[in-house]
Amino acid sequence: MPLTTGMEILSAARAGGYGVGAFNTSNLEITQAILAAAEETRSPVLVAVSEGGLSYGGKPLIDLVLGMARDATVPVCLHLDHGSSFERCIEAIRLGFTSVMIDKSHADEDENVAETKRVVDAAHAAGVSVEAEIGRLGGVEEHVVVAEEDAILTKPDEAERFMDATGADYLAVAIGTSHGANKGTGRPYIDHGRIEEIAARVSKPLVMHGASGVPTELVERLNAAGGRLDGASGIHEDDVRSAVARGIAKINTDTDLRLAFTASLRESLARTPKEFDPRKLLGPARAEMRTVIEGRMRLFGCAGKA
Ligand code: 13P
Repeated sequence: MPLTTGMEILSAARAGGYGVGAFNTSNLEITQAILAAAEETRSPVLVAVSEGGLSYGGKPLIDLVLGMARDATVPVCLHLDHGSSFERCIEAIRLGFTSVMIDKSHADEDENVAETKRVVDAAHAAGVSVEAEIGRLGGVEEHVVVAEEDAILTKPDEAERFMDATGADYLAVAIGTSHGANKGTGRPYIDHGRIEEIAARVSKPLVMHGASGVPTELVERLNAAGGRLDGASGIHEDDVRSAVARGIAKINTDTDLRLAFTASLRESLARTPKEFDPRKLLGPARAEMRTVIEGRMRLFGCAGKA
């Protein structure tokens, strides 16, 4: 199965009324977990690498993901998560990414439109899809911390104008979610009406960032094994289902994978103090992530769509 563009995967998802996961990777084990879960559940998938992931793994990481993606029997897209500039998006396209996100949501609307359009023109010439964002999510995003009071929910009329002006392929919307393991107290509020209004004006796929469920069971295991994660909270599964039913087609998940990996790793280290073979410690962590990813794929509705 050749590498697939994001638009190919996501336009089918929006038309079919299901969501597809974009899962962040930064090493071999995470990539294996994502692709094994996709194969097991017969799901299309986006393997996402952020600029931080790119600095961590460099070109060897990208070559590894591309090699594994080309061997996959399900559609796989390699996606740049939160590209900060035209130059970083071009760098990703040159490395072989089939989808890039240009995130100028922190700039004013004119700058966001201009930079996004520049990326769209270059990316489309290379056959690469583009995600853009309007509105502003709260939480921890790479090295940027956005306080909840600075978050701005996406306005439906702005979203329509922005997509018409830029020609971007899919749109990340701020609808109440935030990045990281602390998404607010209690059950975070998701503005489902807003998703519906945006979807009525924008026919292209919509993207939900900050969608991790932050399962209590994983947080408790992490803390019991020596971790310290306070005030953790995530997006309720019913809210994810409802968002998908209203037009969300791409769902980003990173935190849940990190939690599964680290909970397992802390447990292994605590349980087997004499063990020093990294494979014995990382193997179970990889298996835990795979289980979490398979669950996410079933929740999104993409299982069986490949
Ligand atoms: P989570 O932190 O909820 O996993 O969201 C990740 C994300 O949106 C990456 O772009």
